Amino acid sequence: MKKLAASLLALALLAGCSSGAPETGGDSSSTAAPEAASSDVKTYNVGVAIYQFNDNFMTLYRQEIENYFKTLETDNVKYNITMTDGKNDMATQTEQVDGFITQGMDVIILNLVQTSSADALIDKIVAADIPLVLINREPLAYDKDGNTLDEAYEGILNNPTVCYVGADARQSGTFQGEIVAELPDHGDINGDGKVSYVMIEGDPENIDAQYRTEFSIKALTDAGIEVECLDDQVGNWDQTKGQEIAANALTKYGDAVEVIFCNNDAMALGAAAAITAAGRTVGEDIYLLGVDALEECQEMVNNGTMTGTVLNDHIGQSHTAVDVAVKALNGETLDNYYWVDYVKVTK
Ligand code: BGC
Repeated sequence: MKKLAASLLALALLAGCSSGAPETGGDSSSTAAPEAASSDVKTYNVGVAIYQFNDNFMTLYRQEIENYFKTLETDNVKYNITMTDGKNDMATQTEQVDGFITQGMDVIILNLVQTSSADALIDKIVAADIPLVLINREPLAYDKDGNTLDEAYEGILNNPTVCYVGADARQSGTFQGEIVAELPDHGDINGDGKVSYVMIEGDPENIDAQYRTEFSIKALTDAGIEVECLDDQVGNWDQTKGQEIAANALTKYGDAVEVIFCNNDAMALGAAAAITAAGRTVGEDIYLLGVDALEECQEMVNNGTMTGTVLNDHIGQSHTAVDVAVKALNGETLDNYYWVDYVKVTK
């Protein structure tokens, strides 16, 4: 009974909110003076759910979403942005998205905590008739056992109001491997005929982590270079974990470690600290690779304390996500996918 009352209340709230149509702000009272009509302001309500605020890359990304929405505002069009921190917890993010639905957001931008929960959230958002722009964590097709398939995701293909904006993580992995292959010694510092490496992975549920791990090494083997994996550990995109994993590997394998691949720059920053603490020198007796091109890492590539990184273009991605959201607000048809290129960053 209680449940029914709650659902009815939610429905009533939903019906009361204009999902799709903009709200009229400014002086909206029915007894408004005639001149108020000419200064009508449309305010669009935008819900942005971020998987975790405490993530170096997503911090830049989400700040740019807000900045860019601001630049698109005019005297007559405003964007009222509600941004939530999923705290890397799917239950928390589900509640936040439920809140967006009850509040009748005009569009939702969603950076999933778990891509395996994409179906459940997409179904609710589509049922509520709210356009959805997925960002950063690409849901992929999966088989009946839940294994990821290298195919586009039906939840996106089948829903004209749902799209994904992101970068193809295969490209970033390939670029990391190519940077090593293009070094004068091709990453084989000790000249034993193979590249002995340590891999520090992001969240394994995230396709970015899976593809970067796979394609960085594939680029080396495709170039005819022999490889040896000394260690492969999950650092969950986190700087402190990256440092711990690198420190342990350097203690365990010592000079045998020739390359440390990190799925992102935050973990590479941690690995750089471990490299220094172990008395090793990047560019002389070890190579270090990341992805994202955070400002500090661009600096490090410049001064040689990092071998290379790959620009994960948060400006291009956030602007595309916002442009696509605005298209949806204007009732324009969306493509299924919008891709932004990675860029190789070396000295
Ligand atoms: C970035 C990581 C970030 C992750 C969050 C990746 O594309 O490279 O730095 O932690 O997205 O999902």
